[in-house]
Amino acid sequence: MIRKAVIPAAGLGTRFLPATKSMPKEMLPIIDIPTIQYVVQEAVDSGIEDILIISGKGKRAIEDHFDRNFELEARLEEKEDQAWHTEMRRLADMANIHFVRQKEANGLGDAIYYARHHVGDEPFAVLLGDTIMDSVIPVTQQLMDTYEQYGGSVIAVEEVPNDKVNRYGIVGGTSLSDTIMELSTLIEKPALGTAPSNLAIAGRYILTPDIFQCIEQTPKGKGGEIQLTDSMLLLLRRENIYAHRIEGQRHDIGNKLDFLKTTVEFALKRKEFAEPFRKFLEEILAK
Ligand code: G1P
Repeated sequence: MIRKAVIPAAGLGTRFLPATKSMPKEMLPIIDIPTIQYVVQEAVDSGIEDILIISGKGKRAIEDHFDRNFELEARLEEKEDQAWHTEMRRLADMANIHFVRQKEANGLGDAIYYARHHVGDEPFAVLLGDTIMDSVIPVTQQLMDTYEQYGGSVIAVEEVPNDKVNRYGIVGGTSLSDTIMELSTLIEKPALGTAPSNLAIAGRYILTPDIFQCIEQTPKGKGGEIQLTDSMLLLLRRENIYAHRIEGQRHDIGNKLDFLKTTVEFALKRKEFAEPFRKFLEEILAK
């Protein structure tokens, strides 16, 4: 059973400057909900209540977001704004959220290594803090189901165009079914024309605790950072790893164009905005 989730949220957010100079990219809101709240909600919806967020310099707003704010609660109570009062309490109580700070930006593998004491000797979920999944069944739940069935680490993957494989971790292996593949290799951001497939690592993982020893043995990789993909390649020498093609849509909020698209898509799905927003879009597109 998977009881713990780790959410790395320590990256510098250089793809979203200048907004992320003094604000964590994980706090960029899609309409009115910060990205990381969608991510925590996915873990909670998958039945996980113990969450460790790997934060870093300049990320304090994330801690405040999931903490009580007594002054705000008192003000909402005075105004008899029961709905927002209840929502603020729910937000502070939605999970048991813990924090640890990555001291230097040394890559995703290094960030996950900070979770070793909290995770201990059990398998755990990883959800990248800048990636929102839109799906009927939470993507982490989909991976947990595959973990239950196959008993090894599971990586969420999705197909990407051949000319974009160099932006992702790419997996290769043998298909066991329409959705599951047993891996034989993984490579972080392969040069075009050298990728083993066009199945990209999509920002959600179930990892066995052996990953921590593998991270210790991982040399610096792409970008001079400790890459989680390289550590998983070491893990693959010890145990089976599976890839699970996700059912759902991935939104990478750290990318400006994706952020814009996600905002529009989510606004069109929100009851209070759907109609006037659609009308507005039609008007400006007709100009
Ligand atoms: C990270 C991972 C990569 C994965 C990607 C998904 O890369 O290292 O394997 O495909 O997230 O978003 P980053 O986007 O941090 O460069």
